[in-house]
Amino acid sequence: MNLVTIDHTTCRRDGACIAVCPMGLFDTDSAGFPAFRPGAAERCIGCGHCVAVCPRSALHHTALPLEESPLIDHGLAVSVPALEQLIRSRRSVREFKEEPVPEALVQQAIEAARWAPSAVNRQPVHWLVIRTPAEVRRLAGLVIDYLRRISAQEPRYAPFIDLWEQGKDPILRNAPHLVVIHAPDDWIWSSVDSTIALTQFELAAAANGIGTCWAGFLMRAANGYPPLRDALDIPGSHSVFGAMMFGLPRYRYHRIPPRQAALITWR
Ligand SMILES: Cc1cc2nc3c(=O)[nH]c(=O)nc-3n(C[C@H](O)[C@H](O)[C@H](O)COP(=O)(O)O)c2cc1C
Repeated sequence: MNLVTIDHTTCRRDGACIAVCPMGLFDTDSAGFPAFRPGAAERCIGCGHCVAVCPRSALHHTALPLEESPLIDHGLAVSVPALEQLIRSRRSVREFKEEPVPEALVQQAIEAARWAPSAVNRQPVHWLVIRTPAEVRRLAGLVIDYLRRISAQEPRYAPFIDLWEQGKDPILRNAPHLVVIHAPDDWIWSSVDSTIALTQFELAAAANGIGTCWAGFLMRAANGYPPLRDALDIPGSHSVFGAMMFGLPRYRYHRIPPRQAALITWR
């Protein structure tokens, strides 16, 4: 069975699928219909552009069924001011309510990240969601153990260790939950793909009222301190490429702080 078939009764031969295929896998046959090249199946990255661009649903891709490719509701387009406000009003949240985030909301934010771009559509990101506050706290303690080990060479970490010893949590901010993403080490784009996915998660979380903050200390320790890596149970062939504490924000922000001007060179 062919990976891609064209319904000649509905195809209007507009050439859109041919034009948008990033791998250039289509030819035009003698009647002007798109034709998936022989041997193209091995090169198809499954991005779904050919399915998504066809206004007549005339293109069938066995790996990307139409039933799993819903129609875009153009009436739901986000207004530019709404999008700008979402992007600008997202803050790194470091004070959380004790009540847990409903799992459905977390799932929704992860779902949004599934549609993040990834190099050659590889979608390499794995998600680990730590739901229990006690486990988040234990992981923060392991990060502190790591900082204690390296603080002789990197004295700037000493204040964080002091805060921990005073009963505070400067690492994961007493967040109720944590998300960690990991991906294969042997894929050169794992870091970029993971960062994009987590950024998309962060924006979707903000839209859902979830407060997030990148967990830089934990990200560093996760790949440099085996006890933390073991506690996270990261597969041997993977590295941690991102982590974020999250929970319901204790405070609501009312203003958007200024940022430096964009450093642009126009040519
Ligand atoms: C890669 C990265 C690592 C970060 N690590 C931490 C962290 O470990 N702890 C923390 O409180 N904030 C962390 N942050 C949050 C930044 O401090 C924050 O994004 C910055 O101050 C701007 O504030 P805003 O996110 O509210 O706009 C991190 C941000 C990034 C992008």
